[in-house]
Amino acid sequence: MSQEYGQDAPLSYNKYLKVKELIRLQETLSNPQSHDELLFIIIHQTYELWFKQLLHELDACIGWVNEGRLFRANHSLRGVLSIERILVTQIHILESMAPIGFLEFRDKLNPASGFQSMQFRELEFSSGAKDEAILRSFKDDEFALERLKRRFASPSLADAFWSLLERNGFSVNDHDERVKTIVEILTHPENYADIYNMQDLLIEHDELIISWRYNHIQMVERMLGMKRGTGGSEGVGYLMTTLKKKFYPELWEARTHLTINERTDEV
Ligand code: HEM
Repeated sequence: MSQEYGQDAPLSYNKYLKVKELIRLQETLSNPQSHDELLFIIIHQTYELWFKQLLHELDACIGWVNEGRLFRANHSLRGVLSIERILVTQIHILESMAPIGFLEFRDKLNPASGFQSMQFRELEFSSGAKDEAILRSFKDDEFALERLKRRFASPSLADAFWSLLERNGFSVNDHDERVKTIVEILTHPENYADIYNMQDLLIEHDELIISWRYNHIQMVERMLGMKRGTGGSEGVGYLMTTLKKKFYPELWEARTHLTINERTDEV
């Protein structure tokens, strides 16, 4: 490697960031090369790099919540949201591809699909949405399966949040108790400042992932109409069903039950 950047050369931007290696990682399959395939690869790789950073942040955050370091955890969650805001809008770049340009190389991708993004599934699991069916769909990918099994077995951010509330004296044994707890926190924000801020950041994390799903669906329909996906699903029809996924359903439901009657302080 050091040879690549000049033997004994001092550290440089390209050497530190492994730029030569990085720009070799985009291998197109179309031949002759379709103009838009490079964009297609780069946007997916960019997402995967940000997913890596999000997982790094979420893992640390779970640790901080467990240690009761709520200021640190909330600070980190704000970083997560900043990245996610970029991810939500970044999907639109693909809409600069003409649908006909995408069809030039689409068949070459079969049967690969975003459905198999290991890190996206890790994000879902670590945030709070674990699904055994997803785990089974990785049975032929040993590396991904190992990582996903580990995350499936580890406490998620949702688990860490409910344990935190339990340590703070709330009963959170079932869905109804959890909703009731959140209603209490939403009613008296200043009595539970750090926890109030955390539930606000968590619901925004949920909201941003749903926004990503929504923008991805619109982009997919603009490119493909109602064609089936390369991963074998019915495409847009399947993706619409994923809009119902929520990491923290109790946070959303609590808003339905919130009333002004119990309030004793002002926000
Ligand atoms: C032209 C570009 C794209 C098209 C046409 C497309 C199409 C699709 C389709 C049809 C599915 C459903 C599964 C299947 O049958 O394949 C899917 C799933 C998915 N795609 Fe894309 N996609 C595109 C770009 C992206 C990008 C840039 C990402 C970024 C990571 C991405 C991530 C995902 C993920 C994570 C899923 C699984 C969603 C879930 O099951 O909840 N896709 N995509």
